[in-house]
Amino acid sequence: MILAEEFSRHPKARDSDFSTNSEERGVFHMTPRLASTEACIRGALVCQLAASHSSPLADAAELVSPYVDGIDLNCGCPQPWAYEERVGSYLLEEPELVADMIRTVKGRLGDAYCVSVKIRIDPDLRRTDTLVRNALHAGASFITIHGRTRHESSGSDPVHLDAVQFAVDCARTCGLQTARGTSPGDAWTWAEDGGAGGFAPCVVNGDIWSNEDAMAWRAHTGARGAMSARGLLANPALFAGEPHTPREAVRRFVDYAMKWSLPTSLLHRHLAYMLEDTMSSRAESIYFNTLASPASILDWLTNAGYVS
Ligand SMILES: Cc1cc2nc3c(=O)[nH]c(=O)nc-3n(C[C@H](O)[C@H](O)[C@H](O)COP(=O)(O)O)c2cc1C
Repeated sequence: MILAEEFSRHPKARDSDFSTNSEERGVFHMTPRLASTEACIRGALVCQLAASHSSPLADAAELVSPYVDGIDLNCGCPQPWAYEERVGSYLLEEPELVADMIRTVKGRLGDAYCVSVKIRIDPDLRRTDTLVRNALHAGASFITIHGRTRHESSGSDPVHLDAVQFAVDCARTCGLQTARGTSPGDAWTWAEDGGAGGFAPCVVNGDIWSNEDAMAWRAHTGARGAMSARGLLANPALFAGEPHTPREAVRRFVDYAMKWSLPTSLLHRHLAYMLEDTMSSRAESIYFNTLASPASILDWLTNAGYVS
């Protein structure tokens, strides 16, 4: 999540908050497990922004637009500082402002520009209904629904799939055929919107730890897509059906990190997530967490047989 106001105002914020490279939007050759043929998939990059007003959001969206395929408006960050700044989950109570933000960005970047919204469910589902409808009527390209309220924690509270299903139904009963197809003759095209056609797509999020979870959550809620955060951090090959992070994924991640000069702190943190399952003891995990330099991390990976 990038704070739109700072990003749009200060070059320093832009330098520190956003970087990308040609490979992030490159073409990937996927070997699907369930199909017999290889698929070619272009990586889509979406920049998530937090804002409390429409115009800085549109400014930030415009600045970042040459480098990404779309922007996502954060309406779910539950942290107290975010709520006080009137960003993130604060927007769950401001459906009209959310609609205005989407319209303003689309007004600036064109109707076909992909503007999505990530929400949490509300304890009062009528609010969720209003928010979803407002967002879609304003032209939201898709909605990601985290099945917890802003008062609930990912660490201790279960995800409410029935509430996500409710939100997906709200989106369906809007009757809108994706953001592009809101008026007759305004034909939606694959190339422009990058959506999935049909009803405005929803994505379910929360506690997806395996590919089976993703399929089950989709079946339960009717969402077209599934998003995982902690699951993917722990196992980036989750959606390939791998039960644990494969060694090849670690090797490839380290290669990319070196090639693109990922800051050491991020390299370290991501490896800690990925390798947590494989640590033989708590002591080993603690030892790994104390490694401070790229050289010591690489030594550890070499000794453990991840890189040569
Ligand atoms: C390290 C970390 C960083 C996150 N940062 C963001 C963020 O910037 N924007 C956002 O919408 N959600 C963020 N989240 C929340 C996740 O997107 C997701 O909604 C939440 O973790 C529940 O999904 P999960 O059970 O798959 O982890 C973050 C989560 C984690 C663990």
